[in-house]
Amino acid sequence: MQPIFIANWKMNLNLSQSIELLDELLKEESKFKDKLKIIICPSFTSLYSLSQKLKHSSFYLGAQNVYLKDRGSFTGEISPLMLKELKVQYCIVGHSERRSYLKEDDEMINQKIKILVKNNISPILCIGETKKEREQGFTKNKIQNQLEQDLKGVISHIPIFIAYEPVWAIGSGNPVKSEEAKDVALFIRKKLIELYNQNWEELKSKFIILYGGSVSKENIKDFVDKDLIKGVLVGGASQKKESLLGCLNVLVSL
Ligand code: PGA
Repeated sequence: MQPIFIANWKMNLNLSQSIELLDELLKEESKFKDKLKIIICPSFTSLYSLSQKLKHSSFYLGAQNVYLKDRGSFTGEISPLMLKELKVQYCIVGHSERRSYLKEDDEMINQKIKILVKNNISPILCIGETKKEREQGFTKNKIQNQLEQDLKGVISHIPIFIAYEPVWAIGSGNPVKSEEAKDVALFIRKKLIELYNQNWEELKSKFIILYGGSVSKENIKDFVDKDLIKGVLVGGASQKKESLLGCLNVLVSL
């Protein structure tokens, strides 16, 4: 499988900025085609225009959120069916910004994962510890709890991405040490084996482990390897042409 690069544009790029950045990326497409799997997650207001532009490209479209029902009176929410109509194939769930500012809990995240899988949209599940939990030595407890609750009863026929994103590393310019990210990635793998009672050979095409949190063109090579951490979820560095192409150029050369 090619290394994975997920660009999370958060609420930072409006429609014209999203189109402009995507156009810059499309100019370089031939360099990355067949070598990287690039998933762009813009704001909802940019999804339609970007889906039109990506129709004949090798890049994929992801959403930053979804509601947990297919349809109904849920003012302001976006259904997975609406995402599918726009050819969205991936969706971030459980991002720490939504867990903390929007009070999304594991029960809700679990339901979102289930409805995404039902609609053939691959969830990109974010998990990770806060600074305090880390200082208290609870990193692995937190990861274990989130995996158990978020994946409860989830049986998937499509890949689920699990992004290890330490909350304190997000947007801080201060990523986790690569050895620690690998240690947590191994722990995630072990827990998935336990949860699903299958060996890694059987699970490895179903669960793809990623790292996210202050990834930059300088450090991206420290995180991605062919075996354990298959790619990255990138916020800040994916939102500007120079740093985005910088990351992708390093990733394609690994
Ligand atoms: P960051 O964000 O790369 O800006 O730290 C990562 C994320 O929020 O997914």
